[in-house]
Amino acid sequence: MEKKYKRSKKRFFFQDLNELLKELKRKMGKVETKEISDHIKLTIENGKILSLKTHKVSKGVEENIQKAIELILDRLTHPTLVPTLYTIIKELAINACKANQKRIFFEERGFDISNPDDYTKGLKEYKASFSEAMSDEFGNKAKKKGYYCLINFNYNEDGITVEVVNNTPIAKQEEKSIREKLEKGMAYDDIAQFYMDSADNAEGAGLGLALILIMLKGEGIDPNFFRIIIGDETTTARLEIPLSLDFKSKRTN
Ligand SMILES: Nc1ncnc2c1ncn2[C@@H]1O[C@H](COP(=O)(O)OP(=O)(O)OP(=O)(O)O)[C@@H](O)[C@H]1O
Ligand SMILES: [Mg+2]
Repeated sequence: MEKKYKRSKKRFFFQDLNELLKELKRKMGKVETKEISDHIKLTIENGKILSLKTHKVSKGVEENIQKAIELILDRLTHPTLVPTLYTIIKELAINACKANQKRIFFEERGFDISNPDDYTKGLKEYKASFSEAMSDEFGNKAKKKGYYCLINFNYNEDGITVEVVNNTPIAKQEEKSIREKLEKGMAYDDIAQFYMDSADNAEGAGLGLALILIMLKGEGIDPNFFRIIIGDETTTARLEIPLSLDFKSKRTN
């Protein structure tokens, strides 16, 4: 009788220890890095995608952005935000990869991106010759050069913060373009109206950033929670989505 009791006690102890170890592991936040293809590196903590690093926006990148957002919003029970957040992050990732690839193109053709005359000439050539196939080729070149696009996901029940970073210094003209597009986006509430007015300008492209602001307004999110932070070596687009009044924004004003 006594023996039996001891054995079961021992078993119980081990079961408990396993539970304890599992709990400790969870608390310590086991972070792992997974290279899921030649150009996608994920950082995962307890099944939660913390970041995605890439050099080009491929189908695989799109799928993983979608997965990361679904996981976040599923846990936070805000499924209606999935398509909006997906569109925004994909657009920012494309902008980031494009900025890096533009540098490589300029370097190859001997244009100095920090020189305004060179920038105008280089951009014209870039726009005339860049294709979908080149985007893949330049993504691989970006990887070799160490130019990346890093998407950081951070969330809790009070809100979500997503940052999309690329690691090449920005050109003055790009800064100016960003400012203009953001101003334009602030001025519109209606996507259809914005499209019609933009078609009048016959510009064709250059709609991404303005659309992000209009989409945020459509979701009832203050567009001031979207920021582009220009550093010496990096450009960071940051989107914050408050989900409660306790949300702590990184904004300084
Ligand atoms: N990460 C970035 N680094 C450097 N410049 C950027 C970055 N993101 C945006 N820009 C500049 O801002 C401009 C406007 O971006 P936006 O996304 O609105 O338009 P686009 O990417 O040119 O065209 P579209 O989004 O319609 O395909 C870009 O053309 C580029 O000059
Ligand atoms: Mg864009």
